[in-house]
Amino acid sequence: MSQTVCITGAARGLGLGYTEHYLKAGWQVLAVARKAKEKDSLKKLTQTYRDQLEVFDADVTQYESLLPLRKRWEAGSLDLLINNAGVLLDRHMDFEKLPLEILRQSFEVNVIAPVALTQMALPALQKSTKPIVAMMSSLMASITDNASGGYYGYRSSKTALNMITRSLATDYPWLIAVALHPGWVQTEMGGSQAPTAVEESISGLTRVIAGLRSEDSGQFRNFKGQTLPW
Ligand SMILES: NC(=O)c1ccc[n+]([C@@H]2O[C@H](COP(=O)([O-])OP(=O)(O)OC[C@H]3O[C@@H](n4cnc5c(N)ncnc54)[C@H](OP(=O)(O)O)[C@@H]3O)[C@@H](O)[C@H]2O)c1
Repeated sequence: MSQTVCITGAARGLGLGYTEHYLKAGWQVLAVARKAKEKDSLKKLTQTYRDQLEVFDADVTQYESLLPLRKRWEAGSLDLLINNAGVLLDRHMDFEKLPLEILRQSFEVNVIAPVALTQMALPALQKSTKPIVAMMSSLMASITDNASGGYYGYRSSKTALNMITRSLATDYPWLIAVALHPGWVQTEMGGSQAPTAVEESISGLTRVIAGLRSEDSGQFRNFKGQTLPW
């Protein structure tokens, strides 16, 4: 039987890269995106992968919009949840001018939504023989690595996400929970000057995910498989 993955932020960037990868690999893919039915990237994939791709129109911060996904999870098992949707809202913002709303929005999307989705997915994950939750983190979450400051909302929200990953790994020993850094990647968030192409990052990330064992739960790794400092 084919495996099932759920990917948030699936219509572009790394989320689209994950979606294409797992479709090609024969997985059942639950793709979550805002205005999903209007996104050309997903429309095109639906034509090729009609039986494998299920598209869910949801804003990850709007609980009501996630209910169809919850219903889908009640009907089957889930092998892999990739909490990929994320925002970087405070590029080049000085601390003293940082609107607190930016901090709130960063936590809403980067922390609270992955928690809500993981809570909802737990029963479906429990039905899998090797359930994995992959949190899309960032090296910018690393306290040890932070020598350049700034990015208060982005950095602190991803650091919080890392801590949640670590606690999940402790509290749910049947689950593999990991925080992953994709590298600095050529997406809308990463910009065109980023050194890593989406394909290269996704090829590495999916290799890391495929190789995960239960003893790897709670780790913070990059797309090359290297363990990163907290
Ligand atoms: N690119 C990098 O260099 C880099 C480095 C480190 C970590 N990351 C992390 O990797 C993940 C993917 O990044 P990316 O580079 O692919 O970013 P991106 O190109 O900016 O794409 C972000 C994705 O998140 C979705 N999203 C944002 N808010 C959402 C919401 N409220 N509900 C549903 N979807 C929402 C967007 O959907 P819409 O299309 O609807 O806006 C989009 O699909 C993020 O978590 C990011 O923090 C990226």
